[in-house]
Amino acid sequence: MKTRSPRLVIVSARAPFVRTGSGIVRAPGGLISALLPLMRRSRGTWIATGADREACDTSELPFRVRALALPSEIRSAWYAGASNGALWPLSHGFGEVCRFRAEQARAYFEVCRAAADAAAEYALPGGVVWVHDYQLALVPALLRARRPDLTIGFFWHIPWPASDSLRVLPWASELIEGVLGADLVGLHVPRYVRAFRDALDELGIAYVNDGESIVVPRGARHTRIEAWPIGVDVDGWASLGRDETVAAEAARITADLGGGRVLLSVDRMDYAKGIVERLEAFERLLEQNAEARERVTLVQIGVPSRETVPAYRELRQRIEATVGRIQGRFGGPRRKPVHLFARTFDSTELAAYYLAADAAIVTPKRDGMNLVAFEYVATRPRPNGRLLLSTTAGAADVLTEAHLVNPYDEEGLTSAIEDVALAPETASDIARMAALQARVSQLSVETWASGFLARLEQVTEERVPVRAQ
Ligand code: G6P
Repeated sequence: MKTRSPRLVIVSARAPFVRTGSGIVRAPGGLISALLPLMRRSRGTWIATGADREACDTSELPFRVRALALPSEIRSAWYAGASNGALWPLSHGFGEVCRFRAEQARAYFEVCRAAADAAAEYALPGGVVWVHDYQLALVPALLRARRPDLTIGFFWHIPWPASDSLRVLPWASELIEGVLGADLVGLHVPRYVRAFRDALDELGIAYVNDGESIVVPRGARHTRIEAWPIGVDVDGWASLGRDETVAAEAARITADLGGGRVLLSVDRMDYAKGIVERLEAFERLLEQNAEARERVTLVQIGVPSRETVPAYRELRQRIEATVGRIQGRFGGPRRKPVHLFARTFDSTELAAYYLAADAAIVTPKRDGMNLVAFEYVATRPRPNGRLLLSTTAGAADVLTEAHLVNPYDEEGLTSAIEDVALAPETASDIARMAALQARVSQLSVETWASGFLARLEQVTEERVPVRAQ
């Protein structure tokens, strides 16, 4: 799909480049790979609120990257406090982890204001601005107040909080009003759009249902809320999956792990990912099943994350302690039932693990979408392997042919892991993986990004008369 969007402005917490030991490199993740070509074409500006300024010195690029200069205590209260100590746990249903502090809310408002100021400065008259995620949810309304001429899109990449959870957020109505400053609000799946509708009901904000979308009248304009499921760089993962060097590395991994069945989990070390619960389910399987004790290995890639937030530091210790206990109980000189890697893997390394894995165990307790599930499927050159996926991940609404499991059901999780690890492959397994591959191919991240932008422009042009109900 073509979009007009000259000089598109993107606003996000993360920048498209990061500084590593080996210099400035492209940030990982499908979102960045989808947005970079759009930015190159539109010669726009990428505004990043949480980025390192030097990593954003990209003078050789055909677009600008602007890292906002924010005092470190404001940045920390916004990132570790309001965003990841309040909004993240609230949206993922971890009420007991939430902390609401006034100074963190003030910092959140300040960062959103700074981002809106920068977007107002760089956007062309009548231009398009696309704001991303829960760290910056007030930007759409703040920007609208500064620049009513703009077309504004907003994407919330995590679950929309249940209305009971939202009730405890002291600035819930500011949050919703902030989001409603956009012309088009994207959420991953219809279930989150329904949760958004509940929030509107709760706050007494009038809307119109339009199929599965919602239209909220806002004076002379309206805000449309819709489900736009994101995907991955399908061609990129598929070509890694066909690469001979990657395949040779996968064979080496399988041999190094003893030639038995390989289960793979890849997560940021986040309590919402259910890593400890998965390890405990695997431990129960080893207790109960002698074949699993001899032949099944779980590889857990755990990317360190948000370690300035106490809940994340504690989680890492619990993960390491659980792996140590399992190793102590079931390991031996030639046998290590769980391998934990606590570091970032690049996509080539990951692809080798995806190929080596007989099953991907994607069992978050709650997840906006979960792209590991998509990457595992996209990398496989043949429709083999199994995907075990939580019903509580957004991906379960899209990847319906996966083996689905309720991650809170302890015995259910153990027996689901047992099935995907040890049951002989059947024609139905192959048919399921083939269907998943077809589904994942339809949902590439490039299609998602260009489709959302095209829809954003269409939404601002449609002048459907809307009557509030
Ligand atoms: C989720 C969020 C993103 C965030 C990413 C990594 O996917 O939706 O907005 O960037 O996690 O988290 P971090 O705190 O490291 O940016």
